[in-house]
Amino acid sequence: MTTSSKFKRVFEGEVFSSPPIWFMRQAGRYLPEYRELRAKAGSFLDLCFDPALASEVTLQPVRRFDLDAAILFADILLIPHALGQNLAFVENEGPKLDPLITLEDVKRFRDQDVLGTLAPVFETVAKTKAALSDDKALIGFAGAPWTVATYMMAGGPMKDPGVLRQRLYEEPDFVTGLIDVLADKTIDYLIAQIDAGADAVQLFDTWASGLPWPVLDAVSVRPLDRISRAIKKERPGVPVILFPKGVGEKATEYALLQGCDGVGIDYAMDPGWARGNLGERVVVQGGLDPLLVIPGGKPMEEAADVYLKLFHDVPYIFNLGHGFTPQTPPENVARLVEFVRRNG
Ligand code: CP3
Repeated sequence: MTTSSKFKRVFEGEVFSSPPIWFMRQAGRYLPEYRELRAKAGSFLDLCFDPALASEVTLQPVRRFDLDAAILFADILLIPHALGQNLAFVENEGPKLDPLITLEDVKRFRDQDVLGTLAPVFETVAKTKAALSDDKALIGFAGAPWTVATYMMAGGPMKDPGVLRQRLYEEPDFVTGLIDVLADKTIDYLIAQIDAGADAVQLFDTWASGLPWPVLDAVSVRPLDRISRAIKKERPGVPVILFPKGVGEKATEYALLQGCDGVGIDYAMDPGWARGNLGERVVVQGGLDPLLVIPGGKPMEEAADVYLKLFHDVPYIFNLGHGFTPQTPPENVARLVEFVRRNG
């Protein structure tokens, strides 16, 4: 008999008294073992493209906290890098890219073979999958086209969302052309991750918040519909999780998509609303404010308990409402895991 991970079984409709657990940004600077390895690896990009080291970093939090899933260690900006847009991660400043100027750049991207450049990532997936026991799942991921496009257009984290919205209105061919290429490349990228051993994939739309509805539909919901349907068609049975951050009640639009199996909820979303409006349609994942894990203790446990109680009778995955920050004490993460396992 093949054993399946708790994480995978949730997508088959199983309800656990103690739900499977993983965390966004579970690998990273809050872990001393990550910092130590990172110092030896050189740049962040070098680390992402070194399968032995990236696989080790992927496994670190799973080992330390006995989590139910590993998430591939990579970054959403590897796609722009593979498209030929110059990328650097500057210490204490974050990512920097050469800002995108013209429609010609977008046209050039069409012919780029991203899978060749990203081959080491698939090797990381395969290595990690081989190292994980059958009761642990491996999650692959990519950025959603809109979120990746914001970094590509702004040349880094966007400072003023209005500038990008204005560009969409003034140069619709440029922005929609970019989103379109990104959607196509993302489909290829995620299918290659699945073929290398990923058990599920997640799409991060971190910057979906604050868009007027028709724009949100055009730049976020539609492209994610296209990507998730393509994955379902090509690789049926592999769960697709969407994380549209900060979209409030528009989360139902994502939950209704044919290719969507799970929706990640952010810390600002009312969990009661999510239970009522999403919980019967898809697997809900996450919600807990990551900043509560910094002080930890009772307030963290009480907040975690709200999610456990509300979602006790539907398939649910315990997670955060966004990633851990570098200030998070690892002891508090261990205590959170213990609390969920004990009280679920
Ligand atoms: O553990 C995991 O969750 C897997 C690895 C992962 C990273 N980035 C590693 C990383 C994942 C899933 C991401 C996604 C990502 N990257 C998103 C979407 C989710 C989110 O957090 O909103 C975004 C917007 C990015 C872009 C990005 N990468 C930024 C803005 C930064 C700089 C900010 C920061 O935290 O340093 C990164 C760098 C990055 N990606 C680090 C890590 C561990 C830190 C790099 C370092 O070691 O210095």
